[in-house]
Amino acid sequence: MNSPAFPAFPEGFVFGAATAAYQIEGAAAEDGRGPSVWDTYSRLPGRTAHGHTGDVACDHYHRYPEDIALLKDLGVTSYRFSIAWPRIRPQGSGPANPAGLGFYDRLVDELLAAGIEPAATLYHWDLPQALEDRGGWRVRESAELFGEYAGIMARRLGDRVPRWITLNEPWCSAFLGYAVGRHAPGAREGTPALAAAHHLLVGHGHAVSALRAEGVREVGITLNPDWNVAATGSDADRAAVVRADTQHNLVWTDPLFAGVYPATEHETWQELIENQDFRREGDLDLISQPLDFVGVNYYRPTVVADAPYREADPALRTASDNRYREVEYPGVRHTAMGWPVVPGTFTQLLVAMRQRYGDRLPPVHITENGSAEHDVLSPDGQVHDASRVQYLADHLAALRAAMDEGVDVRGYYVWSLLDNFEWALGYDKRFGIVRVDFETQARTPKASYHWYRELIAAHR
Ligand code: FCB
Repeated sequence: MNSPAFPAFPEGFVFGAATAAYQIEGAAAEDGRGPSVWDTYSRLPGRTAHGHTGDVACDHYHRYPEDIALLKDLGVTSYRFSIAWPRIRPQGSGPANPAGLGFYDRLVDELLAAGIEPAATLYHWDLPQALEDRGGWRVRESAELFGEYAGIMARRLGDRVPRWITLNEPWCSAFLGYAVGRHAPGAREGTPALAAAHHLLVGHGHAVSALRAEGVREVGITLNPDWNVAATGSDADRAAVVRADTQHNLVWTDPLFAGVYPATEHETWQELIENQDFRREGDLDLISQPLDFVGVNYYRPTVVADAPYREADPALRTASDNRYREVEYPGVRHTAMGWPVVPGTFTQLLVAMRQRYGDRLPPVHITENGSAEHDVLSPDGQVHDASRVQYLADHLAALRAAMDEGVDVRGYYVWSLLDNFEWALGYDKRFGIVRVDFETQARTPKASYHWYRELIAAHR
């Protein structure tokens, strides 16, 4: 295979790989871990592909030394993993579980011994089920308990983990979880989903305070901003883009980086946002505390067209019913997820964020980027995933272009180290640069792993 050229990054640029607890750990009922919303949701009929669950996943809970050896051989400077809140506080509140803390102690020590900087995400969607039973993110209590849990982890690991991410993609938690119903807990609601969005941000704020109190080195949040493109040049489609941007981007980035909610939220949610009782004085100050970095996860652009409400009666409408629909991106390759591959939009997105927030935008880490492909295990025992290599090369080049245009990007984490449990899509979608055979748990580095390894080595 002719490998695509390596884009060149400045000295000190962080090359990493990312995973998330529920997607890889397995050991769902071991050592005192409590159930999370994903344990519950994945057991509901028809919610995940083939009824797959994260019960075993990549069995990383037992095989982490092998996985860290793969990271070491890859040469990454940093590894982004997430901590399972229900391993630490099985009921969401109450005493910390020593066995859960012990697991992350061992993981962090093993990473450090391999010369890899740990980057810990506190919340990658696995809310303790006990908290969902009390209202989940719809209620403020979850935000407060999230802050407590952040403090527990910072006290335990703050001396050894330099980079902390409070939330992963709160848009998914709030909207896929409470409005679209495609992620746990699978709710389809209106104003309560907007309350969930706000409480996630409040939880982020409490976590920032707790992490700062322990003096950790770097604190940030990971978002998944969309690059929304109007299907046509019509006024209606352009207005639809504003509503999509509001839901996916502005309702997160404006509070975080400008300390306000976007003016466009009223047009976007109309009746659903009229009652703002869930927002309290002081919340925006808590939410907009300065950060050391913002994590950006980017995969693909979205084409948006104007559409009528799916539900005419506001009382029955969900918070994701914003009078637009996604349409196909014409004329480009699509990955196994059906996602369009348009690397230049990655540059455009980052430059636009920088333009909107100026110096209030913290330095950026790309905390996820990668692609699911129709991988084939060849008779030679290898996975020749040329399309993934091309995807990574093109997106790294697009990232480099954004840096040339003045965006301060400090690092890049490929999603993902391992094939894993891809949420509602179960084990069908493979994002790994290492193949996992889910019958035997055998790991096979793919061509993309070898390519990324050479790219990292070229920067030494
Ligand atoms: C992101 C998630 C990550 C993974 C990738 C494909 O939205 O953060 O867990 O599922 O998408």
